[in-house]
Amino acid sequence: MPNIVLIGVQWGDEGKGKIIDVITEDVDWIVRFQGGNNAGHTVEIGDEKYVLHLIPSGILRADKKAVMGHGMVIDPLSLIEEIKELEEKGVGVQGRLFVSDRAHMVLPYHRSMDARLEQTRSTHEKIGTTKRGIGPAYSDKVGRTGFRMVDLIAPDFPERLKQRVEENNKVLHFFDADRLNPDPLLEKYEQAAPLLAPFITDTTALLNKAVAQEESILFEGAQGTMLDIDYGTYPFVTSSSATVGGACIGAGVPPRHMDQVLGVVKAYTTRVGEGPFPTELFDDMGEMLRNVGNEYGATTGRPRRCGWFDGVVANYAAMINGIDYWAMTKLDVLDHVETIKICIAYECKGRRLDNIPANTQTLEQCTPIYEDVDGWKTSTKDATCFEALPQQAQTYIKRIETITGVPTKIVSVGPKRSSTFSIG
Ligand code: GDP
Ligand code: IMO
Ligand code: MG
Repeated sequence: MPNIVLIGVQWGDEGKGKIIDVITEDVDWIVRFQGGNNAGHTVEIGDEKYVLHLIPSGILRADKKAVMGHGMVIDPLSLIEEIKELEEKGVGVQGRLFVSDRAHMVLPYHRSMDARLEQTRSTHEKIGTTKRGIGPAYSDKVGRTGFRMVDLIAPDFPERLKQRVEENNKVLHFFDADRLNPDPLLEKYEQAAPLLAPFITDTTALLNKAVAQEESILFEGAQGTMLDIDYGTYPFVTSSSATVGGACIGAGVPPRHMDQVLGVVKAYTTRVGEGPFPTELFDDMGEMLRNVGNEYGATTGRPRRCGWFDGVVANYAAMINGIDYWAMTKLDVLDHVETIKICIAYECKGRRLDNIPANTQTLEQCTPIYEDVDGWKTSTKDATCFEALPQQAQTYIKRIETITGVPTKIVSVGPKRSSTFSIG
């Protein structure tokens, strides 16, 4: 099995969790390489629904090993909760979950700052973050004031944390936010350290050993290309590298061991949080996509903004990530649409644009140039191969392949494992 980097193509929530669960059957290791518990990856197995925030979705297959790479930012208390929830559902993680000693921690002052910064931003500056402390934790990382998982298990951590909480209280006070009481906090982290110690290790060494032994790895991207700190719709992005380069940086495996790049792309587009979204629909069609697609955030429960498929975004993601093939999800959500629209370019002030402009205001002024495709107006949910799809659904997939120059290898027509098939 080749090593695969799986990347979200749009603004997250493409159905990565589901596709990861399917692919994991054939790999040995699954590694998350960026982000934190801002992610919400849903996997439905039988009647059980799991939403993973920090732990790689591949953990749900009992014989697989899961790594939380050093490019992640990890809230240790949330991690303990997630381990507990999985164990309560019968998913054991002992001995097969490995947490990088170099991953940075998200601490309570990061969450406080995240929430407070959002409050202080004016309406058009709000990012709509998940308030999980992600931005402030990555700021501390690059500012060289962060704590890493290895620090959590060091004897002097409580003392160092106390000092840092007090320093951060000054900053919080400056922003008119509530101060944190260090003592109860220290107690929580003292209790957390022995619980997490067995998982904390040098995951880079582990993964490279796995590669040397010809074991296969699936790199589990979180968020999506348009939320990437460098390539997304800045500043309405997350604070990590959600594109393919992030996998090398955040897992510590050299690029020559990454054999394929898989782009998970929804058959339409959604976005949760603020920021430009050229194909967004504000009418009944947008409402229909949200209802039929159950488009509510897996982490925050917020309604997702919905719109037509954006070929400019998909092309851009294919270029940035070098995508080899698509896994197209949620085709079934379009089952009863009369005429489907695909955005093939933007128009801005009378000019045609085929690329994503860097300037956010310019992108906000872009209107989509659409191409109409006939809907199939019949259920696809029981399809088990490409040929079993209605002709119009086949045409829709083929049209997206032509526009992007990338073939589709996996199609998903429902949230369950069984509602997935490969092409070719
Ligand atoms: P992720 O963050 O990319 O893993 O995606 P989320 O889990 O946040 O959101 C995707 C949602 O769509 C979840 O509720 C999935 O159960 C669901 N889903 C995934 N694939 C399909 C599909 O092909 N059809 C339908 N109807 N739902 C799907
Ligand atoms: P998965 O992995 C969708 C969005 C937030 C906000 C912006 C910044 O499930 O696809 P942050 O809390 O990261 O500072 O918020 O990014 N966002 C996501 N949107 N899916 C996600 O993850 C997201 N993670 C962050 O809504 O707009
Ligand atoms: Mg999600």
